[in-house]
Amino acid sequence: MTHSSPTQSAPPRKIIIDTDPGQDDAVAILLALASPQEIDVLGITAVAGNVPLALTQKNARIVCELAGRHDVKVYAGCDRPLAHSLVTAEHVHGETGLNGPKLPDPTMPLQDQHAVDYIIDTLRSEAPGTVTLCPLGPLTNIATALQKAPDIAPRIQDIVLMGGAYFEVGNITPAAEFNIYVDPEAAEIVFKCGAPITVMPLDVTHKALVTKPRNDAFRALGTPVGTAVAQMTDFFERFDREKYGSEGAPLHDPCVTAWLIQPDLFTGRHINVEIETASPLTRGMTVADWWGVTDRAPNATFIGDVDADGFFALLTERLARL
Ligand code: RIB
Ligand code: CA
Repeated sequence: MTHSSPTQSAPPRKIIIDTDPGQDDAVAILLALASPQEIDVLGITAVAGNVPLALTQKNARIVCELAGRHDVKVYAGCDRPLAHSLVTAEHVHGETGLNGPKLPDPTMPLQDQHAVDYIIDTLRSEAPGTVTLCPLGPLTNIATALQKAPDIAPRIQDIVLMGGAYFEVGNITPAAEFNIYVDPEAAEIVFKCGAPITVMPLDVTHKALVTKPRNDAFRALGTPVGTAVAQMTDFFERFDREKYGSEGAPLHDPCVTAWLIQPDLFTGRHINVEIETASPLTRGMTVADWWGVTDRAPNATFIGDVDADGFFALLTERLARL
């Protein structure tokens, strides 16, 4: 398959990354910071998810400093889901959330403003339809902002998120993907807010596997970023190798950033996606009407496939720039 080059004629897209680092979140952030022609990272908001908030806000700053970007504004957000106690994923990401490389504690400051207020203020102050939200973790911050300031919904350009699953079913329960499972009530608010939504579910992220040759290519960059990413995926892949027998770590969250840079690497359908919030058995399931068997109105572009070689070619080329 020939790889098209990313379009660079348009001005960079202004984004807020909402994240729970997490090794794959880290790679998504690095890819965004390595791509200033396509992406203008206005700020990064941390949420409780893979590990508690105290660690996700610290890890977000560690990653910015790894990229040499001490200037990026990082905000701490919600430390627990809307209606459930927090579920974390140290079994996948390690006790720090960034196990693998040895990275120094951050020196850059955490912003004083709460992440939810930062999201609201930014959407109100930037021109309508010019800011994209990129949630990479549970949707608690985004949903809380929408509840606190419903006027921001029509001002959102796009929501491009990692979460959910249909054909791949669950990775934290038999029915649900982690980000949606942790805060299904938040996901329901987001999926009903009316903003354009593009979803990167496990259906596509499980096709973005860091095989050994791909991880060797990261290591061969010979840079602190390339080495750190290789060490992150060396650690992060254990869970998926044991559970799925997969060929390497699935790079879930970088699919969001890669879509912003080169959307034609991905294919999907504009369909209805509803969130299960009532059933304990299927809490957090994304009920995706992929086959159009209901008359429920489409509310999301649900991505099902990726040109994996093109994805890794883009990722490796961009990481080499840091
Ligand atoms: O299920 C995978 C998702 O949950 C990824 O975003 C990972 O970082 C965790 O947040
Ligand atoms: Ca994440």
